Amino acid sequence: DVGNSTNIKWHEGGVTTQQKEDMLEQKGCVLWFTGLSGSGKSTVACTLEHALLERGRLTALLDGDNVRHGLNKNLGFTASDREENIRRIGEVGKLFADNGVITLIAFISPYKKDRDAARALLPPGKFIEVFMKVPISICEQRDPKGLYKKAREGKIKGFTGIDDPYEEPEAAELVLEAVDKEGQMVAPQVSAAKILDYLRS
Ligand code: PPS
Repeated sequence: DVGNSTNIKWHEGGVTTQQKEDMLEQKGCVLWFTGLSGSGKSTVACTLEHALLERGRLTALLDGDNVRHGLNKNLGFTASDREENIRRIGEVGKLFADNGVITLIAFISPYKKDRDAARALLPPGKFIEVFMKVPISICEQRDPKGLYKKAREGKIKGFTGIDDPYEEPEAAELVLEAVDKEGQMVAPQVSAAKILDYLRS
C-alpha cells in the first residue's frame, strides 16, 4: 500500500538488518511504553536508556513531548491526530529497529488499534509493549505538569483519562506498576531493571 504516492517502487539490496545487528552485537527492537500522562513513561525510558548505554548498547529514545516539537508539531490531540502521531512514530520506530537500534518509544498511545498497527510493522518478538499501569488517581496526584488540574477546570479539552479514553493493553509483554505490594512507590531504576531482565531473556 503506497497510499497517495504514485510511480514509486520499493528499492531492495542495501545492507541487511542482520548485518547491522551482527556489527552492533545486539538485536534491533522497539520498546513501546504506553500509559497515562504522569505514569512515568519518560522517566523509566530515560533511566533504561542510560542503563543500556552503560552496557554498550546503541539506543534511540522517542518521546511524545519532544517529537511533538518537531516531526509531529502539526498534530494536536483529536482522535485522528493521535492516530497519525502514533502511525508516524510506529514507522520511525521500525526504521530504527531495522537498523539494529534498541528503540525506546514513550507516547501515551491511548488507542489499542493504533498500538496494534505499530506492532504489526515489526517481525514477532521485536515489538515489546511496556504498559505503565498506574491508577489515574496517582497520576493526577503527581500531576508533574499541572495538566490534570487544567483538564479538571475545563481549560484543556479531551485530556486522556479525564474526557478522552485510555484503552489499557490486554497482552503487553511487560506490565509495570507504580506501587509495589507493600504500597511503596517503585523507583524508575527498579522498573528499568525489570525491562533489562526481559531483554536479556
Ligand atoms: S498521544 O495520545 O500518544 O498522541 O500523546 P503524546 O504524543 O504521548 O503526548 C502526550 C503529552 O502531551 C501533553 N498533552 C496531552 N496529553 C493528553 N491529552 C491531552 N489532551 C493533552 N494535551 C497535552 C501531555 O503533557 C502529555 O505528556 P506526558 O509525557 O504523557 O505526560
